Amino acid sequence: RFEKVWLGAAILLIVGFIATIAYGSVGVGVGMVDDTGGQISAEEVQNGNTGTQFDDPGVVKEDGQYVVYVVARQFQFSPGTGDTPIRVPAGENVTFKVTSADVVHGFSVVETNINTMVIPGQVSEVSARFNEPGTYGLICHEYCGAAHHTMGGSVEVV
Ligand code: CUA
Repeated sequence: RFEKVWLGAAILLIVGFIATIAYGSVGVGVGMVDDTGGQISAEEVQNGNTGTQFDDPGVVKEDGQYVVYVVARQFQFSPGTGDTPIRVPAGENVTFKVTSADVVHGFSVVETNINTMVIPGQVSEVSARFNEPGTYGLICHEYCGAAHHTMGGSVEVV
């Protein structure tokens, strides 16, 4: 009988932890993470001849939805790094599509639960909605070479 009570308490605790994590996402809801997989090669990305929007990465509107195409390479995000921040509107659904021009990278937006690996030859997809305007840090969280620790940028929500 007591086991059931403890089991119930444990489940409540777990639910509580999940709720805490969800609440901690600072107004960002992540819709899904999906690899569309193997349609473009890192070499094509590097040479800018994928025949896709990755040849001219940035924020575009597709069917009324904001889509951000980002190319990760040693050791920068295009756009994202330096004087080319990713600029997206608050309160709108935004889908990030990220691919790599060379090795495995990470794509993580600080203080949100936007967090995905970036794998050469694949497209990582994360949807989110920023409710709060502001500047969010962007970091690579997968070791990608000597200057991995310098690879970052920012997302400006306006
Ligand atoms: Cu790119 Cu670490």
